[in-house]
Amino acid sequence: MLSTSNTPRAAAFSQASSKHTPTDALGKWARHAKDIALAKTLANMSPADGQPGAVLASPSRANPDYYYHWVRDAARTMRLFVHLYNTSDASGKRLARIDYHTLLERYVTFSKLNQATSTLSASPGEPKFYVTGESYSEAWGRPQNDGPAQRAYVLTRWAQHLLMEGEEAYVRGVLYDGRLPSFSVIKTDLEFVAHHWRDPCFDLWEEISGQHFFTRLQQRQALVEGAALAEHLGDPRAAAYYLEQASVIESQMDQFWSPGENYLKATVPSPGGFKSTDLDAAVVLAVCETYSKHFPSYTPDSDRVLATAFALHSAFLPMYAINRLARTTEGKPIFPGIGRYPDDTYDGGQPRNVGNPWFLCTLTLSELCYKASSLFKSKPSISINGQNVGMLNLAAQLTDPSIALAAGNTVRQESREHRAIVTGLFAAGDAYLRRVQLHAGEDCSLSEQFNRNTGAIQSARDLTWSYVAMILTESWRSLAAREALVDSRVSAEQPQLISATGK
Ligand code: NOJ
Ligand code: NOJ
Repeated sequence: MLSTSNTPRAAAFSQASSKHTPTDALGKWARHAKDIALAKTLANMSPADGQPGAVLASPSRANPDYYYHWVRDAARTMRLFVHLYNTSDASGKRLARIDYHTLLERYVTFSKLNQATSTLSASPGEPKFYVTGESYSEAWGRPQNDGPAQRAYVLTRWAQHLLMEGEEAYVRGVLYDGRLPSFSVIKTDLEFVAHHWRDPCFDLWEEISGQHFFTRLQQRQALVEGAALAEHLGDPRAAAYYLEQASVIESQMDQFWSPGENYLKATVPSPGGFKSTDLDAAVVLAVCETYSKHFPSYTPDSDRVLATAFALHSAFLPMYAINRLARTTEGKPIFPGIGRYPDDTYDGGQPRNVGNPWFLCTLTLSELCYKASSLFKSKPSISINGQNVGMLNLAAQLTDPSIALAAGNTVRQESREHRAIVTGLFAAGDAYLRRVQLHAGEDCSLSEQFNRNTGAIQSARDLTWSYVAMILTESWRSLAAREALVDSRVSAEQPQLISATGK
């Protein structure tokens, strides 16, 4: 167990990225919140009553009971650790590097145990395990097939790092053996993803069975990155098959676009029932998590994604009483808290009640805006259309209220409008982040939700992936702020923070 000195490790990461960091009040708060978030994330690793490598979703054991290793939450956390492992070297913090190496190694061992354990899903799509590694045998929304996809690509990134460091024997033995049937963790997941991505499964919120935008983007990402690894390790036929399946997925993504509603739907066919609209923050979360410059239809600056972000903003703004507070006492904008989807009734307890804004979803909107700001900065021109106009006006008017973009306009670099879009999106990221700042608990602690009427933190306390979202959002903010200081033309290829392999 990593039992000692969480705080120095957290400090090491903040130093690693402290060059040119913004010194404004929100930026300072965000850096502090990130340090706390990292310490709290590390505190949820390998709990004393579990196996090494288990990632606790939250220490909460009741109302709700989240004392489990969720495959999804764990994979997202480990993607952050692969990134930290990578960047901590640059700052010469070798000790921290060794710690992340250990965390990832244990995660591999625990993941192998999960794959070998017999579960009710009877497939790698089992969503959660006890921290001891035992299977959970109660009724649950299973399978959830984004899990094996996310596990595959975080481990693929990890394998790529290990290969660069000469650990090929371990990679071939444990991670990717190129055999069928496979006894290695990545290949087992990739084979499942490649052959079963069409199977209906439960969504990331564990409620609805169908075909999901979120799951599809994760599956595509796993296949594309996995193909590169397979090729590299001499498994070209698998590589070709994975790429072929990825391109079929790409060719089917259009089905999620609803021209009438002007947003990307979360599930096809639309579930109906208690989910009357199919507008869902999961779409934006998927785009942020799988961000890749090689799949330009679904990036933070793409039209359909901006349309979806604007639809979410507009739907949640009037929904929660706390969103009426729209400015700080100094007059700085505060954007609405964002929930999972408008009809959500999950408040963290049983029975069903009313849903609330989530830290994860609000931070995701913030992250999206920072990323979009970076991406637009390098664009020689921006075409305004019916899909992006809502979000771009909302953002641009934050920094220049006189701007009125209209569909059909072309905005050129160096123009007042171009500048307003870039700085406005950054300001929009800040406005969502202020919402999180306002409702974070004592000493920046984050749970899952904050109450729609009182703003108090609610549901699972110290939720690991809320913290991970906080860390990533701050990193993107720092990156976008740094880029604002440099020549606009160098920024286009920069946001490789999450996709270590750039796929
Ligand atoms: C119902 C919630 O909507 C879902 O997201 C959650 O995973 C389960 N309950 C378990 O807490
Ligand atoms: C419920 C959420 O709906 C799901 O997405 C998450 O994986 C689990 N809680 C654990 O955090």
